[in-house]
Amino acid sequence: MDVVQALARLRVVPVIVIDQPDRAVPLARALADGGLPVAEITFRTGNAAEALRLIAAECPDVLLGAGTVLDPDQAAWARAAGASFVVAPGFNPRVVDYCTVHGIPVIPGVCTPTEIEAARERGLHLLKFFPAEAMGGQAYLKAVSAPYRDVQFIPTGGITTANLEGYLSMKNVLACGGSWMAPPEWIRDGQFDRIRDEAAKAAAIARAHVAISG
Ligand code: 3PG
Repeated sequence: MDVVQALARLRVVPVIVIDQPDRAVPLARALADGGLPVAEITFRTGNAAEALRLIAAECPDVLLGAGTVLDPDQAAWARAAGASFVVAPGFNPRVVDYCTVHGIPVIPGVCTPTEIEAARERGLHLLKFFPAEAMGGQAYLKAVSAPYRDVQFIPTGGITTANLEGYLSMKNVLACGGSWMAPPEWIRDGQFDRIRDEAAKAAAIARAHVAISG
């Protein structure tokens, strides 16, 4: 199964800010125990690459992505650390080109028609819609994506269990991302049961939605 198929099956991507390497493996296991064996580790801390490396080594069943990748150096660190895909908040052609050349799936962030078209020009058809809620949520995504029938989105930014199902019910939404399942303070404080339970709630919504639409 490739990364896109795996994300389509999981439908929810926990977005992680982690600064304590010793928390990385318990965090990944908590998500997997909750039914979401996937994590996007963001380059928002100095220890992101180390967290990626540890999870890649210890949790091969977890689909591992790197997030907040802002330049080709970070993309290279993500690749070296064992990330299977790269996510970025915006469309940076240098990041996209690095990933394309090195064969690592990349999901750049977009929120305007111009950005969607820039990504399509690079042959990308799965894009992060960011920041989803601040840009106008489902109504905006529906309007901005209408002309682009060959593009799917991963809305991220302001998504919680309260609005997850609405996004997942949109035809062109492959999955949703968000930090609500594992906020940095829960990770810092070692609240892994809480993370597992929140992941389980999200996984249940994803499963219920798949069952309804399928
Ligand atoms: C991201 O990096 O994708 C977003 O900051 C996550 O947004 P959220 O914290 O609102 O879920």
